[in-house]
Amino acid sequence: MEERILTNEATHFDDSFEQSLRPQLLQQYIGQQQAKDNLSIFIEAAKGREESLDHVLLYGPPGLGKTTLATVIGNEMGVNVRMTSGPAIERPGDLAAVVSSLEPGDVLFIDEIHRLNRAIEEVLYPAMEDFCLDIMVGKGPTARSVRLDLPPFTLIGATTRAGSLSAPLRDRFGVPLRLEYYEVEPLTEIVIRSAGLFEVQIDPQAAVELAKRSRGTPRIANRLLRRVRDYAQVRGNGTITLAIAQEALDMLQVDHHGLDQIDHQLLQSMMERFRGGPVGIDTLAASIGEESVTIEDVYEPYLLQIGFIQRTARGRMATEKAYAHFGYPLPQ
Ligand SMILES: Nc1ncnc2c1ncn2[C@@H]1O[C@H](COP(=O)(O)OP(=O)(O)OP(=O)(O)O)[C@@H](O)[C@H]1O
Ligand SMILES: [Mg+2]
Repeated sequence: MEERILTNEATHFDDSFEQSLRPQLLQQYIGQQQAKDNLSIFIEAAKGREESLDHVLLYGPPGLGKTTLATVIGNEMGVNVRMTSGPAIERPGDLAAVVSSLEPGDVLFIDEIHRLNRAIEEVLYPAMEDFCLDIMVGKGPTARSVRLDLPPFTLIGATTRAGSLSAPLRDRFGVPLRLEYYEVEPLTEIVIRSAGLFEVQIDPQAAVELAKRSRGTPRIANRLLRRVRDYAQVRGNGTITLAIAQEALDMLQVDHHGLDQIDHQLLQSMMERFRGGPVGIDTLAASIGEESVTIEDVYEPYLLQIGFIQRTARGRMATEKAYAHFGYPLPQ
């Protein structure tokens, strides 16, 4: 499948750039005011008591800054952050190996925590609650359970699907934080900050234009900035002006709402083949040759956010706003 410039999932091109663009402290972390306000109080309180921070669950669509926030929390607490992911922890022993290497107060970051298997979850509960691990040693009749004491630590779980987390696991996070799509203003700030780090000149209106077309997602804003920078270098004098930004974005087929070809296909299919719906997610996915989960996790959340589609019990529906965007007449 072709590379999609607007995907909010990380591609291998993003990795090195993302590292260099990551804010290190809460103060540099732009937007997400509510999450930041809450966190700064909990961090200050934990530091005042010289305790580890309560376990934190970060959830929300990809590319909004969950991994970044986990590192920021580690920096603010002045502790190390160990990173792993749900699928990487296959056996209880894998988990034991990671947690037993933690220093007191350290952060253990588990990305895609909804993908932990049940057996691991069971081992994780006492680790989260009482900072101990019960692991089975040996096999058959000589098998016995050994209790391992752990240093107090903070588990930060990240997930794009909070709904897929089992209730007992979800309940063990003292601080659940939902990350929201960014408004144009904070996204503009992110674009300007990143341009500064890239040492590229950008006009303020150009930064706003980029922000508007980035689907509320910093990862996409940073990616579009890189492409527009190339364009400015080759077609202009290096400065990203509004005209350059518009031309470049049009060439990348990113429309004024930040929608790309696949969003267009999705919406057009709803309006043209299904009279605007309601249409079931699987039927819709099949009609444009995408997977249902990709639509649910990646495309749909933003289209819901900007009010282009609605979810009903009988399926998805295209809204009046979507019809207006494409200039289609509303069905009778
Ligand atoms: N609040 C922010 N301020 C400035 N830059 C940000 C902010 N949030 C995210 N970014 C930038 O966006 C990029 C993506 O963020 P990050 O990798 O943390 O997203 P994520 O939510 O962990 O995504 P995924 O769900 O795919 O793991 C990073 O390079 C980071 O520089
Ligand atoms: Mg991440």
